[in-house]
Amino acid sequence: MTKDANYYQSKYGLSATHNEVVEACSHIKPCKVLDLGAGNGRNTLYLSARGFDVTAADSNPDAVAALKSIIAAEGISNIDARVYDINEANLDAQYDFIVGTVVLMFLDPSRIAAVVGNMQQATNPGGYNLIVAAMDTKSYPCPVNFPFTLAEGQLRDYYAGWELIKYNEELGTMHNGMQLQFATMMAKKTA
Ligand SMILES: C[S@@+](CC[C@H](N)C(=O)[O-])C[C@H]1O[C@@H](n2cnc3c(N)ncnc32)[C@H](O)[C@@H]1O
Repeated sequence: MTKDANYYQSKYGLSATHNEVVEACSHIKPCKVLDLGAGNGRNTLYLSARGFDVTAADSNPDAVAALKSIIAAEGISNIDARVYDINEANLDAQYDFIVGTVVLMFLDPSRIAAVVGNMQQATNPGGYNLIVAAMDTKSYPCPVNFPFTLAEGQLRDYYAGWELIKYNEELGTMHNGMQLQFATMMAKKTA
């Protein structure tokens, strides 16, 4: 790594890398990673600076264009940024690590099973999926009208047969102070 891992975030005024991505990088070595719903690229740029070979996919062409302009300005060679609708569940490559932080809740509820199945299929044996997504539970009804929210245990059930490196459904606080439960999962695909 030639640059500090948060160099791009500071330079381009991006929010900090998601803490679960930072934590994941403490035990996953640079590999081929897919940042699904990459947004402004905070995680993508961090992973790139850590030496990962990153595909950044998002359905918002403006977000992808903004990320591409950073890539061009910085002469970054290990990020492929592209417009992609996750609901299509049509990934056309294999990855060692797939990241989706705060993305699942924006997807079409009728496509979630297909999307998760496609992520799992597109993960190499021994590879990892990291998902952080909003929940709606009896104890903490989701205060935001997301198109999709996870039920208790739903994400864990999707990953039956994978090794759960980390799984929790803890209470989190959004930037506007609203509290809701998030499922946080780091899972490893067994060979
Ligand atoms: C809250 S942002 C999170 C961005 C990024 N993962 C992060 O943690 O900074 C959600 C992102 O999901 C993207 N998104 C929503 N629906 C999508 C879809 N169907 N396909 C691809 N990206 C989508 C949005 O464009 C947005 O960039």
